[in-house]
Amino acid sequence: MSPAESETKLFVRIGGVHGLTSLVRQFYARVLADRALRPYFKGVPLDKLYSMQLEFFSAALDGPTVYSGRTLHYAHQGRGISREHFQGFVEHLFETLKDYPLTDEDRYAVIARINTYVDDVVGSSAAASD
Ligand code: HEM
Repeated sequence: MSPAESETKLFVRIGGVHGLTSLVRQFYARVLADRALRPYFKGVPLDKLYSMQLEFFSAALDGPTVYSGRTLHYAHQGRGISREHFQGFVEHLFETLKDYPLTDEDRYAVIARINTYVDDVVGSSAAASD
């Protein structure tokens, strides 16, 4: 990778807002097709979820966006999400990222950033903060 390329933000390399919009759609198509994960999204307004995820991913990947949703802890507490569910969710993200013209290094960088939120999402953290 050239120095110029490595200095570009992940957000840009993934295709900016356009790339992330399609990423979120394709990612959730996989999540919702997963029998272990699908029940958690029953009755959830998906258009709002997709637009919040677009903001969240954009901000997490150094894009020019401010995330306007609830804290991840607040949005996920009490849902009984286990580490296995979280792991499955992240694996779908990794599979989705394979369809994007990124290096493996970039794919792992995205996963590493998302993994930092595990304690906000899994059930055991429900009483830990907030
Ligand atoms: C690091 C991984 C995850 C991230 C970054 C993430 C991010 C988000 C974001 C940004 C929202 C929108 C919050 C809002 O509307 O204010 C959301 C909502 C939601 N997430 Fe996650 N999530 C993750 C993992 C999971 C997992 C593993 C599950 C279930 C298996 C899950 C289930 C849900 C559900 C059901 C909602 C809808 C909540 C509602 O509208 O009331 N999330 N998530």
